[in-house]
Amino acid sequence: MKNVFLFAGLLLIGAYVISCKPEATEASTAGDAVASSGMTKEDSIKRGEYLSLIMGCNDCHTPKVMTDKGPAPDMNRLLSGHPADEALPAITDKKMIGPGQWVLFTLGQTSATGPWGTSFSANLTPDDTGLGAWTFQNFEEAIRHGKFKGIDGGRMIMPPMPWQNYAAINDEDLQNLWAYLRSIKPVKNVVPAYIPPSQG
Ligand code: HEC
Repeated sequence: MKNVFLFAGLLLIGAYVISCKPEATEASTAGDAVASSGMTKEDSIKRGEYLSLIMGCNDCHTPKVMTDKGPAPDMNRLLSGHPADEALPAITDKKMIGPGQWVLFTLGQTSATGPWGTSFSANLTPDDTGLGAWTFQNFEEAIRHGKFKGIDGGRMIMPPMPWQNYAAINDEDLQNLWAYLRSIKPVKNVVPAYIPPSQG
């Protein structure tokens, strides 16, 4: 009888050791696994890529190329924001963009003009001209509280960036989205500064 208990005890210890082992190996090979979920870095990036796609980040943050199916995201400039060398077409009748009037987008949807002024989608790549120097905390501040540059006390992020919708994202997916943005190709592109309505 005693032996049976001893055997069961050993089995339990064995099971514990085995169940812990893969996790420990995974964490050490994956570098920094996502803290809150225990996901591998690779899975976190994959999930982030999926989120970026379905949350529509490319719509505004990726310049477009013309294809036979119409404008499509330019994968060479993925999420690199409004191209520095893309001048905006002149707005010939300023009355069209006042309050209660029209909102105008450039064809690539990387810039928009409306009652708030003219905004240019940001470079989200890990280049120095993008989010290279950002921490996860900056990203969280921007997405959850709409703070430009991710700085508490900074100006509010302008339309059409729909941060108010994204603010509801859960912590784990915010980390996954961030992991993905850190993994994409850095693209050098200094996005023009926001133009307030008084200067437009
Ligand atoms: C409808 C257009 C649109 C969509 C969709 C959009 N953005 Fe933006 N985003 C913008 C614009 C325009 C700005 C710059 C606004 C400004 O200058 O105040 C911006 C700014 C940002 C900033 C702040 C950059 C900085 O330097 O402070 C971050 C971060 C950001 N977007 C991330 C995202 C992510 C991640 C997604 C997808 C989940 C996304 N955006 C989807 C238009 C968009």
